[in-house]
Amino acid sequence: MAVVISSSGNAQAFEAKMTVYVFICVIIAAVGGLIFGYDIGISGGVTAMDDFLKEFFPAVYERKKHAHENNYCKYDNQFLQLFTSSLYLAALVASFFASATCSKLGRKPTMQFASIFFLISVGLAAGAVNMYMLIIGRILLGFGVGFGNQAVPLFLSEIAPARLRGGLNIVFQLMVTIGILIANIVNYFTSSVHPYGWRLALGGAGVPALILLFGSLLICETPTSLIERNKTKEGKDTLKKIRGVENVDEEYESIVHACDIARQVKDPYTKLMKPASRPPFVIGMLLQFFQQFTGINAIMFYAPVLFQTVGFGNDAALLSAVITGTINVLSTFVGIFLVDKTGRRFLLLQSSVHMLICQLVIGIILAKNLDVTGTLGRTQALVVVIFVCLYVMGFAWSWGPLGWLIPSETFPLETRTEGFALAVSCNMFFTFVIAQAFLSMLCGMKSGIFFFFSGWIVVMGLFALFFVPETKGVSIDDMRDSVWKLHWYWKRFMLEEDEHDVEKRTA
Ligand code: BGC
Repeated sequence: MAVVISSSGNAQAFEAKMTVYVFICVIIAAVGGLIFGYDIGISGGVTAMDDFLKEFFPAVYERKKHAHENNYCKYDNQFLQLFTSSLYLAALVASFFASATCSKLGRKPTMQFASIFFLISVGLAAGAVNMYMLIIGRILLGFGVGFGNQAVPLFLSEIAPARLRGGLNIVFQLMVTIGILIANIVNYFTSSVHPYGWRLALGGAGVPALILLFGSLLICETPTSLIERNKTKEGKDTLKKIRGVENVDEEYESIVHACDIARQVKDPYTKLMKPASRPPFVIGMLLQFFQQFTGINAIMFYAPVLFQTVGFGNDAALLSAVITGTINVLSTFVGIFLVDKTGRRFLLLQSSVHMLICQLVIGIILAKNLDVTGTLGRTQALVVVIFVCLYVMGFAWSWGPLGWLIPSETFPLETRTEGFALAVSCNMFFTFVIAQAFLSMLCGMKSGIFFFFSGWIVVMGLFALFFVPETKGVSIDDMRDSVWKLHWYWKRFMLEEDEHDVEKRTA
């Protein structure tokens, strides 16, 4: 499949305006990211609501009532975790189907499928009268996320004028964080609506799903997708429309050329296994693992639960989640601003040290002061919240957006969508692992869980230091020569392939 994108740093100088139409398209498509964020944020609040627990998880509700028996274990329940995590497993599977619909049918229908999955799933989950409806609803939501997360970042990259591409890519992450924040606010207000607050909270996702469904009727297909599917005239007309200029010949030719090259690669997945694909492949997959093992989703999914664990009341816990959500959104702007200035490596390294300190402080306070049955003092609880906020800040300008940006800009054209699809599903897999395991880990490891994540932060910092080269300002189609061939470790794979090519030619 062909994806024609160039980095913001070395954008080809095709004639283009930032048209109102492109702006509208970007906003509508990014609503897909907002729904993803809403789902991340909503489950923690819903699973902390008594009405919800009474109806579906009575055992957890009983245990919670006797919370003084064990702080760390009151929410530990495999089914409760399955409610949160099933979505990600479904999204993992769905992203492979979505990769196929993206190339065969286009980005726009893939987004429309996503919105239909979202709508059906919201109906099922918000109207659930038994566990099956609830879980099937979550699974369909996962399908929506899989389709949306595959199509939206690609759509954004292809529709944006080249010089704005880096920043526009992070609009996706920005919308994710806004979705999480909206969910936190909705959780806060619906928690006092009895007994149906949780239905309103889960049903809330219907609003952006409708915006995506109807909004997607207004947006265009991307020129690359049209040209790739041999609709060349329509592709050229769309290009003129979105660029706001008559002369689009150069950009059009470059897309046609890219499509020709991509068509020659019959099996991109085999190509991904070749040595030359090793650097973006290994980095792209490991970034997903590391992004999740920063422990961010332990906070995002379970913030209210976590704050209750350290002794906040129900309302205070939900309110604290609103505060962390706000910080998450604001700090993402810092990422948008810095990513093309300080570069990717600086952000990854700075935040590794930053997040490490926060995790250690939280772990030490909990280890020293929160025993299995007591609560934290007011000041200590406040310090925990402050360090959770600082931690979220560090994540939001680094591993959060870069986890999506780096895999979208480092694969060569021939394997770009397939490489990205693998990265999306890898992200979903590790998100699933954390969602499924966190509450049991909290119960088993107690405050030690924060030292566990700290250990991984050390590993990922070292990985970034030695294995993630700077890609700021490098043209997306020039990674091989300007980045991999110059890197102390990755260059061996490039040489290996060059030697292989020479052997093939002389044989
Ligand atoms: C991650 C999510 C996370 C979110 C937090 C995203 O980049 O993929 O798993 O919940 O950031 O803002």
